[in-house]
Amino acid sequence: MTWLGLVACGLVSCGGIGGAPELGDMEAGGEPAEGGIKEVPNPSASMAAKSRKPIGQLQRGHEIYMLKCGECHVYQLPQNLDVDEWQEAMPKMIRHAGLESADEKAVLDYVVAVKIERGE
Ligand code: HEC
Repeated sequence: MTWLGLVACGLVSCGGIGGAPELGDMEAGGEPAEGGIKEVPNPSASMAAKSRKPIGQLQRGHEIYMLKCGECHVYQLPQNLDVDEWQEAMPKMIRHAGLESADEKAVLDYVVAVKIERGE
């Protein structure tokens, strides 16, 4: 599987999260919502209520997402995949990123909460 990582890195260039997230080719624009960028907003009470997840869990997921999930490829935004595609992709990505399964759950809960909040 390592060669896949190399391919991904070669195509989109690795690294490059210095302070502000490097958003690659996603569309720009929109005001930051509550301190986050529009596409990956900071967890809010409303997101927690609608997704029925504790806000701490969503905050953990958001943090890991911002730290890890743009390392090897451009950020895959919550809106890019359907919920079932996210469920399928996450276990693979957690292995790629070397995270624990609790982190996997947190990132998944976060991206799903963003989708629910937006009515996607
Ligand atoms: C160490 C490198 C690496 C890290 C870190 C990483 N990815 Fe990936 N990602 C890949 C590679 C390589 C692919 C290409 C396909 C594959 O391996 O399945 C990929 C593909 C994807 C896809 C496309 C769907 C699919 O099933 O192929 C999604 C969505 C994704 N990553 C999300 C994430 C998220 C969310 C995180 C943070 C937890 C993350 N990635 C962290 C390497 C990484």
